[in-house]
Amino acid sequence: MNEGLFRCKICGEVYFGKHPSHCPHCGAHEKYMLKMDAWQDENMPIEGISDITKKNLEETRGLEYDATRFYRAAAKETKSDVVKGFFKYLARTEKEHYEVASKLLGQPIEDSINEPSEGLGSDLLNVKKSQEMEEHVTPLYAKFASEAVEPRAKEVFAAISEVEADHIELDKEEIGKLS
Ligand SMILES: [Fe+2]
Ligand SMILES: [Fe+2]
Repeated sequence: MNEGLFRCKICGEVYFGKHPSHCPHCGAHEKYMLKMDAWQDENMPIEGISDITKKNLEETRGLEYDATRFYRAAAKETKSDVVKGFFKYLARTEKEHYEVASKLLGQPIEDSINEPSEGLGSDLLNVKKSQEMEEHVTPLYAKFASEAVEPRAKEVFAAISEVEADHIELDKEEIGKLS
């Protein structure tokens, strides 16, 4: 049997099937998808966390919180099932990033993350805003990875920076379809 259970080294979610190219939950790349029995939980509060990592994780947690709620608003606002699916996917991945940052900080997962914020009134404007947000966070998280002294923080920042870079490509494709 080629199929099996995999678990993501970044978000900890479980997946059944063939070795996936990306985590279906947080979007982390193939190398982070581990065979179930090779996985161990690394999403606990970082002991003796450095000031810089704490500050950067807090900023990440806030950005991912806002992104998740914006994507939920954009998914709610659209009349197109295709666009709804697009924003639903982005909302899911950003929520996973929020949860990872929260766990590394030992901070709660707020229920309010599930409440949509405000969209901009059109699918095209919402995707353009997404592109702007993703273009902001991709280099930012790469910088956070380089600043982190803790290996786990470095790994998480690098992994989610790669995911946000993928989102920029998805946004560009979607803008092409909507324009
Ligand atoms: Fe994941
Ligand atoms: Fe994210």
